[in-house]
Amino acid sequence: MQQSITPVSDPFELSLSVPGDKSISHRSVMFSAFTNGACHISNLGSGADVESTISVMQQLGLDISYEPNEHLAIINSIGIDGLSQPAESLDAGNSGTTLRLMTGLLSGRQFESIITGDHSLQSRPMGRIVNPLNSMGANISAQLRNNAPLQIRPGDLHGIDYEMPVASAQVKSALILAGLQATGETVIREQNLSRRHTEMMLSRFGGPVQVDGKVITVQKLESPLSPYDMKVPGDPSSAAYWAAAAAIFPGSVSEIRDINLSPERIAFLNVLKEMGVEVAIEVKDTSIEPRGNVTVTGGDLTGVTIREEDIPALIDELPLIGVLGAFAEGTTVVRKAKELRYKECDRIAATVANLEMMNVSATEYEDGFEIHGDEKPDGAEMDSFGDHRIAMTFAVAGLGAADVSVLKNADAASVSYPEFWGELRKLQV
Ligand code: S3P
Repeated sequence: MQQSITPVSDPFELSLSVPGDKSISHRSVMFSAFTNGACHISNLGSGADVESTISVMQQLGLDISYEPNEHLAIINSIGIDGLSQPAESLDAGNSGTTLRLMTGLLSGRQFESIITGDHSLQSRPMGRIVNPLNSMGANISAQLRNNAPLQIRPGDLHGIDYEMPVASAQVKSALILAGLQATGETVIREQNLSRRHTEMMLSRFGGPVQVDGKVITVQKLESPLSPYDMKVPGDPSSAAYWAAAAAIFPGSVSEIRDINLSPERIAFLNVLKEMGVEVAIEVKDTSIEPRGNVTVTGGDLTGVTIREEDIPALIDELPLIGVLGAFAEGTTVVRKAKELRYKECDRIAATVANLEMMNVSATEYEDGFEIHGDEKPDGAEMDSFGDHRIAMTFAVAGLGAADVSVLKNADAASVSYPEFWGELRKLQV
């Protein structure tokens, strides 16, 4: 599917909520399997990725009644030993979080399973989970080098002390889920902080997970987690598109209600501030992680250089920062971000290619890009490369362009935000 994007001509005021946080949605479904009772999860993320996790858990025998239109799941678990061998291979679709976290969970089960995903997911690196999990005693083989499909046979897990070579919440979470099923202690050491939903949620629900700075310690789970009711906060990574849309139009305002505001997820808002944008954050609740409203008012943007230590907390928003750079005075630099090449597509190449189509001066590096925001970008023919974040990033770029743009493979957005194009159209009337 292709979408045409007409630039917005006048400043606008937008007030909306966005789908439930994708990272928290996946985890809220997966972790319920470790409880013994009923979990009630509302405002679940609406995209195909979260549905991949739900269907994988259903294939493993977890009793989930899911109402997609109400974004609601009621899950009845009889404990982690209630999961059973799936009849067929498990399909994580486009979702790296589903595949990586589930591999950690399944590595401690006493049945065999195979987990795979779509073409994009099969090309993403899995050695980063297979190697440390196998050193914990897991029995995982990658059918082709280090890529999915992964075959997971029963293993006897034991704790390890592991220093993370790359900052990755998915890898960290896979190891924590294995650690809950391993004898002894599992210690995970991070160099730079990645999102911490796994640690925060598991310890909140009574799991033996402790965090001390950048060191996480996990013990074997001896009794089930407490069943929970939770309302998933809005996804700050989805909110970022509307924040950026206001940021590039001086005088425009976007208010996004009830989103997750934990520090490792709002680094993008700090970058907006650094670029000269007015950002107001109102925390409304802190019971599991902080959540509340954000209001962004557009002004004149100045280029920014992203610090290496901030990269993990900005990982999903870096292409959008590239686009903001195209609308900013001066130069915007993103380096030490090679991880972007291993996402749903090569996001360094995709960002630079689309910006060049818009006649923006952009330099591609092995580990990032540099953008010169000299003139207003032209409307152009752009491509999502099948990646939801690239689709939404360049939809925003099109809103600020000098003339009409066309985006190929625009339906990729539905992986995390099926309502995105409908919301965008409201800005174009
Ligand atoms: C996610 C972690 C991030 C992020 C992804 C979701 C998660 O990946 O890019 O969209 O839910 O744990 P890495 O931390 O593995 O880079």
